[in-house]
Amino acid sequence: MALWPLLLLTLGVWLLLRKWKLLKVGISLPGPWAFPLLGNAQMVGKLKPEFIFLVFTELRDRFGSTYRLWLGPQLWVFLHSAEETRQALHDPTLLKAETFLQLEPLIGNGLLISHGAHWTRQRRLLTPAFQPQLLRYFAKDIGKHVDRLVSRLESTKGACLEVTDPLFACLLDAIVDTSMGAQLDTQLMDHSPAIQAFHLSSKLLFKRMINPLLSSDWIFQRTQLWRDLSEQLQVIHSLMDQVIEQRAKKLEEQQKEPSGKLHHNLLDTLLLARFEDQPLSRKEIRDEINTFVFAGVDTTTAAMSFVLYALAKYPETQSRLREELKLHQLPKDADLDSLNELPYLEALIKEVLRMYTIVPTTGRQTTRTTVIGGRTYCAGITLWINMYGLAHDSLYYPDPYAFKPERWLASEGVNPPPAFSYIPFSGGPHVCIGRRYSLLLMKLLTARLVNEFDLRLSPENAPLKLQAQMVLKARDGINLSFVKR
Ligand code: HEM
Repeated sequence: MALWPLLLLTLGVWLLLRKWKLLKVGISLPGPWAFPLLGNAQMVGKLKPEFIFLVFTELRDRFGSTYRLWLGPQLWVFLHSAEETRQALHDPTLLKAETFLQLEPLIGNGLLISHGAHWTRQRRLLTPAFQPQLLRYFAKDIGKHVDRLVSRLESTKGACLEVTDPLFACLLDAIVDTSMGAQLDTQLMDHSPAIQAFHLSSKLLFKRMINPLLSSDWIFQRTQLWRDLSEQLQVIHSLMDQVIEQRAKKLEEQQKEPSGKLHHNLLDTLLLARFEDQPLSRKEIRDEINTFVFAGVDTTTAAMSFVLYALAKYPETQSRLREELKLHQLPKDADLDSLNELPYLEALIKEVLRMYTIVPTTGRQTTRTTVIGGRTYCAGITLWINMYGLAHDSLYYPDPYAFKPERWLASEGVNPPPAFSYIPFSGGPHVCIGRRYSLLLMKLLTARLVNEFDLRLSPENAPLKLQAQMVLKARDGINLSFVKR
C-alpha cells in the first residue's frame, strides 16, 4: 500500500523532467485551470467535438489571443491573432497536426498531409495545373453538370428541398469530369455507391479523429469502425483505379494518333510526370486524386449550400446580385473572365466564406524550437489556428456576426481587413491549391441558380445551428425552395 505514493511521486518527477520545456511554455501562457496529470482533458472530453470551434472562440474572449489547454501531457496552444497566424503558416519547421495524418487510409501521402521533399515535389508538379488559364477550359464542362442540377431543382416545382445532397452530386460529377476526364453521372442516379462511400468514409474517419483512444493504428485496426471504413475505401479505390486506367489509355491513344486538341487536366499532369525518368506509381496518383475529391467536394458543397442559404435568408442580397447579373447580361454559359467582372458576386462569396468559415480550424505540430509572435515554442506542441475565430473577431471585422457582403466592396470605400485575418483557404506555402477552382465552381453555380430561380427559405427551417465535422455544416441541413423565374 505504502508503495503507491512513492510510485506516483516517481512518475510525477519523471514526467516533470521529461516535459520540462513543455511545462515552461504551458506555464507562461494563460488558460483555464488544469488538474495535475489530467490537465484540461476532462473539460475537453465533455465538449461535443462538433461545437469545439465555438468554445475555442469563447476561450479567446476569456484568456486573450494566445492561450493553452493541457490534454494530459499534451500541450495545445491556440493562436488567434492575424500576425501569429501569418508566422505559424509560414514556419517551415511546423508539420500538419498529427490528427490529420489519420486520413491516410483514404488519401495516402497526398498533398493535404504529406510533408518534406515529397510535398515540395508534388506541390510544384500540381500548381501549374490549377492556373486560371487552364481552369478557363473547365467552365463549359462544369456548365453541363449545372444544367442537370437546374433540371433537378425545376422538377421540385417550388417544393422545399434539402440542398446539400443535390449540390454534392453536382460538384462531385463536375470535379471528377474536369480534373480527371471521367463521367460519374451520380446526378442521374437515385442511389450512387460512390457518393455513399465518400460520405461514409468521411464520417468514419472523423469519428476516429475525435476519439483519442483510436489514435493508435494497432487499436483502430481491431475495431468495427476500421472494418466498415475498409469496405467503403474499397469502393472508392477501385472506382479511382478505373478512372486512372481509362484516362491513361486515352492519353496513350492520343499520343499514338493525335486527333484534335486534348486539354490536359490534373490527372494528365500526374500521369505524364517524370521524376528521375520514373513515372509516378499508380498508388501515388490515386492518393492525389482522392485528395482532390476529399479536399474539394465536401468543402465546395458546404460553401455553396451557405451561399444559397444566405441568398434566401437575405432577399435584398439576392435582388442586388440579380441586378448585377442583369446589368452585365451574362450568357447562360458565362466564362471565368465575365464572372470575375462581377464585384457583388465576389463580395457575396467572400462574406459567405468569412461568416461560415468552412474549415473552422487547422493545426500544426512543432518539431523543434521555434519562435512565433515573439514567444519560444519547443518541439511537441500542437498549435491550433482558429480561422473561424479570426473571421469573427471584432478587432478585424466591425459587427462580425452580421452578414454584410458590402464590407468587401472597395467601391463603397471599405478598407480591406488585415492580411491573415481572412484565411478561408489557409495561407502560406500550404494555401489551398484548389481555391481558384472552387471559386470558379461557386461563381458559375451561383450566377446560374439566381438567374433561373427565386430562392426562398423553407418556413420549417429551424434557426441555423452550425456544426463542424470535417467541414462546417448546418446541423439540421439547409431547406430551400427554388421557384422558377
Ligand atoms: C470552398 C472550398 C474550399 C475550402 C474552404 C478549402 C479550404 C482549404 C484549407 C483551409 C486548406 C489548408 C489546410 C491547412 O492549412 O491545414 C486547404 C488545403 C488544400 N485544399 Fe482546399 N479548400 C476548398 C476547395 C478545394 C478544392 C476544390 C480542391 C481541389 C480540387 C482543394 C484541394 C486542397 C489541397 C490539395 C490542399 C492541401 C494543400 C497543401 O497542403 O499543399 N481544396 N483547403
